[in-house]
Amino acid sequence: MDFFKLITLISTLYIFLSSTTPTSSNSSLTPKELAYVPVNFLSLAKSPELVDWMVGIRRKIHENPELGFEEFKTSELIRAELDKMGIPYKHPVAITGVVGFVGTGKPPFVALRADMDALAMQESVEWEHKSKIPGKMHGCGHDAHAAMLLGAAKLLQEHRHDLQGTVILVFQPAEEGGGGAKIMLEVGILENVDAIFGLHVSSRFPIGTVAGRSGPILAGSGFFEAVISGKGGHAAIPQHIIDPILAASNVIVSLQHLVSREADPLDSQVVTVAKFQGGGAFNVIPDSVTIGGTFRAFSKESLIKLKQRIQEVITAQAAVHRCNAIVNFDDKPLYPSTVNNKELHRYFGNVARDMLGEKNVLEMQPLMGAEDFSFFAEAVPGYFYRVGMQNKTQGQLGPAHSPYFTVNEDVLPYGAALHTSLATRYLLEYQQPRSASSKGSSRDEL
Ligand SMILES: *[C@@H]1O[C@H](CO)[C@@H](O)[C@H](O)[C@H]1NC(C)=O
Ligand SMILES: *[C@@H]1O[C@H](CO)[C@@H](O)[C@H](O)[C@H]1NC(C)=O
Ligand SMILES: [Zn+2]
Ligand SMILES: [Zn+2]
Repeated sequence: MDFFKLITLISTLYIFLSSTTPTSSNSSLTPKELAYVPVNFLSLAKSPELVDWMVGIRRKIHENPELGFEEFKTSELIRAELDKMGIPYKHPVAITGVVGFVGTGKPPFVALRADMDALAMQESVEWEHKSKIPGKMHGCGHDAHAAMLLGAAKLLQEHRHDLQGTVILVFQPAEEGGGGAKIMLEVGILENVDAIFGLHVSSRFPIGTVAGRSGPILAGSGFFEAVISGKGGHAAIPQHIIDPILAASNVIVSLQHLVSREADPLDSQVVTVAKFQGGGAFNVIPDSVTIGGTFRAFSKESLIKLKQRIQEVITAQAAVHRCNAIVNFDDKPLYPSTVNNKELHRYFGNVARDMLGEKNVLEMQPLMGAEDFSFFAEAVPGYFYRVGMQNKTQGQLGPAHSPYFTVNEDVLPYGAALHTSLATRYLLEYQQPRSASSKGSSRDEL
């Protein structure tokens, strides 16, 4: 029997039964029937029409990259596609964010998230759909993420009658440092949501594989910038100046001692100064130098301690050199570490193994990278995983945040199918809202 006919039959039965018996059961599908869901969605996602459509969307977004909270055209494109599909949505959420709804409009609610923002960097890949905006590039694959979630939206909408609840599609702005997720969360987009899933493309894992892990997978992070001011002048007459370049250099060396001498060696942490700006001539000492960077740790305590010590070390070390320093942490929020829910890890493994086979579901090591998905995963049970896109026969892909970053577009159907399957099966397997707060509520604000 065709799987979806089966599902429809079973869900009709389910609705019939649950309307006569007040205590509705756990999924009425057998594991074998549930296993068809991801297999089926992968084959639907790989249909040439859907692939071409997703590739087209991804390329359009790639050509017109927009930075955090400025994703106006990207957001417009996403809304136009949702309109065509007949999917209702909320907009604007956090300036450019879009939140779509597919399904019954009733609990349980499961959310899928894609980020939309690009990076402030120049693309160096020469190809037909290269970024048309100088100094901006989709160098992290968020163009692919948006296209995959639209692909999932299409599949979900086509099979909306099989959904035993509501899927919330979260298109979020400003992942790269801006904390778009935090703002979306603050306006309540995850109220009554039982679980959220997010993915990231990865050039480290082979195409057709996924990688995940239970517990902490990405570090918490913060950013800092400091202006170190002295007194500029002639480079040959140092006795009359106060040199901010030497002061900043010593500040940077001292900052490197925070992790090597103050942090517990078993508690992974990073302090990196990635920005150093000052001076423009061989024979002029500048008035000031600006440095900036990032700090990473898994625990909130370690992150806050690093932040405090970065402030102290910069100001005190600058003072040793008679300079004044102003340290600023304000423009970007501290990201908590991304922690995957244990139960969702098991659930993800089941769905992914059914779709891709046992050997293609890999365990990933934690990384010191950060993701603002962490805000979502702090608020509700969350799961963030990698989708592999490396294909050795096509050569090595440039890594994320590199001007040579490339997306292997063969990854698009995998992402769309994973999103669709995780949400659909979640609703089938968890027909009862799990949190007491979500009982009886519905999302009828539209
Ligand atoms: C990898 O690339 C080759 C050559 O383009 C292609 O034939 C093959 O199908 C790709 N593998 C996967 C899993 O997509
Ligand atoms: C569904 O039922 C199975 C078998 O009875 C059980 O192992 C599983 O924990 C249940 N899931 C939920 C969400 O209640
Ligand atoms: Zn990134
Ligand atoms: Zn990213």
